[in-house]
Amino acid sequence: MAKAPVIVTIDGPAASGKSSVSREIARKHGWKWVSTGAFYRGLAFVALKKQIELDDTQGLVDLCNSDEWSIELTPTKTEVVFQGVDVTDQINHEDVGSFASRISHHTNVRKALLAAQRNCAVGQIGLVAEGRDCGTVVFPEAPIKVYLTAKSENRALRRALEHGSDVQEIQTAQKIRDQQDSSRKTAPLQIPENALVIDTTELDLVGVVAAVDRHIQKIMTQL
Ligand code: DC
Repeated sequence: MAKAPVIVTIDGPAASGKSSVSREIARKHGWKWVSTGAFYRGLAFVALKKQIELDDTQGLVDLCNSDEWSIELTPTKTEVVFQGVDVTDQINHEDVGSFASRISHHTNVRKALLAAQRNCAVGQIGLVAEGRDCGTVVFPEAPIKVYLTAKSENRALRRALEHGSDVQEIQTAQKIRDQQDSSRKTAPLQIPENALVIDTTELDLVGVVAAVDRHIQKIMTQL
């Protein structure tokens, strides 16, 4: 029988460093990496294109199951492909993130995306999954859970530098998104039980990756 994959979950608020850290951890260990946020961003992007309204739950669920768009995992990207075109760069804007956050409170939308997210682990030796509910809902049985956080102004600055946008505007948008993501009824952003919590405000990528790696080594010796 095939060995169950090692699953590491990394959750946290917007721009807390989840993608860079989880991608690097996956690379170092030769594991797959998935950003579950790309599922919500992909859906948001396609819904905006197709002018599906925020409160049209059935329309959004139908879109989750549509073959017009798909998610492809590569070592460096969780790619969103819409009508055969890679639109990953376009989903990274804060306006798509904001719409993704707003549609992600629909329980049925979350349910419709869950199986595909869990499928990312199938046939793998290891998977690093990042998002908001990876340690609590998508992979609650994962042996290794991490929660990243950082000061709001630092998180906004990181994104503003990446996108060349206004820090104040980004900070305001992120605060709204964090509030929505933490207060929704279904699968809110929260610290999973037994998660290692790391404040990345004063740390660089190397420092955070090292801390996560020490945690992985510690848990792996107990498995
Ligand atoms: O991680 P991100 O910024 O790409 O996520 C975009 C939005 O998607 C986030 O604000 C809320 C939603 N999301 C979610 O509800 N659950 C996840 N596991 C990942 C993202």
